[in-house]
Amino acid sequence: MYELLRKDGKAKRGRFHTVHGTIETPVFMNVGTAAAIKGAVSTDDLRQIKTQVELSNTYHLHVRPGDEVVKKLGGLHQFMNWDKPILTDSGGFQVFSLADLRKIKEEGVHFHSHIDGRKIFMGPEQSMQIQSNLASTIAMAFDECPSSVADRRYMENSVARTTRWLKRCKDEMERLNSLPDTINKQQLLFGINQGGVYEDIRVEHAKQISKLDLPGYAVGGLAVGESHEEMYRILDAVVPVLPENKPTYLMGVGTPANILEAVDRGVDFFDCVYPSRNGRHGHVYTNHGKLNLFNAKFELDNRPIEEGCQCPACRSYSRAYIRHLLKAKEMLGMRLCVLHNLYFYNTMMEEIRDAIDAGEYQAYKKRKLDNMSQPLD
Ligand code: GUN
Ligand code: ZN
Repeated sequence: MYELLRKDGKAKRGRFHTVHGTIETPVFMNVGTAAAIKGAVSTDDLRQIKTQVELSNTYHLHVRPGDEVVKKLGGLHQFMNWDKPILTDSGGFQVFSLADLRKIKEEGVHFHSHIDGRKIFMGPEQSMQIQSNLASTIAMAFDECPSSVADRRYMENSVARTTRWLKRCKDEMERLNSLPDTINKQQLLFGINQGGVYEDIRVEHAKQISKLDLPGYAVGGLAVGESHEEMYRILDAVVPVLPENKPTYLMGVGTPANILEAVDRGVDFFDCVYPSRNGRHGHVYTNHGKLNLFNAKFELDNRPIEEGCQCPACRSYSRAYIRHLLKAKEMLGMRLCVLHNLYFYNTMMEEIRDAIDAGEYQAYKKRKLDNMSQPLD
């Protein structure tokens, strides 16, 4: 399923074959939490901005419109008109960050919906059933993402439970994939490594989950408040323990610099809300740092966001016009900024893949980081 095409230092260039097509890695997955990329971005747009994988969330879609509804409509791919790979996060992380009054037990988590307060129970089996109804390409294991300041004892108990949950996820997915009315009978399960900033707990957990021979592994519980240096230290310790012939996914990360550093440590998959969230606030990425288009200095700036950028915003509109749209609260302003930012991330991943192919990753990374830290305007 995963072909390791070449390595440049620890950086991996791969190809992941799925029923919904091939993913060239390293890849940035574009976040569409509730089956929608925030900022009025359609799946037709995604096709134009080089998106390879769309990411949605189990928890959000279970609450609204309901995974049973999505199943009746043929699964997420049909529902949102997207035929390329979709990865669904398991609900674990969202339950811990969004839901109210949660109670964690061995069987799963009891909580209240953040939309209408109704009581919900989600455990490994429920998460797999929901993701099977959604019929995503890749389903994530149901995990606990403990607080970055959790003490050692809490972390050990939590990680042990996450390992037991992972085995239940695997059994349940195998059962669901063999049922006659399952939409995607080749749904793939990725395990998730946890352990906070405790290197030894992380490494031991990575060894345990690697034994389950899953099609891919994620590193979770990072970018939750620890420093960038701590995150890189954990990646230095954990990624070499995960199987090299499987994709490694760093969940919820991050800035362009974070991605460049993580690729250098062997990570294949990324996702993050930054490009869409920043775009909605008029903050746009360029090769010379971020611009805030609300800034008065762009009032008469007739240049595109980035000279030479082939995105739908830069091909047709100026900074001055987009600034006007943002200030007038016209939806098109946000939309153009989000399209540019996602295109920027997707294009950076393409450059990363080309650099690894050419055996020039170190030089590329240095050049990119140097440029981005030297604003031109
Ligand atoms: N997204 C970002 N971090 C995490 C994590 O630790 N677990 C899950 N399931 N999703 C995440
Ligand atoms: Zn652009």
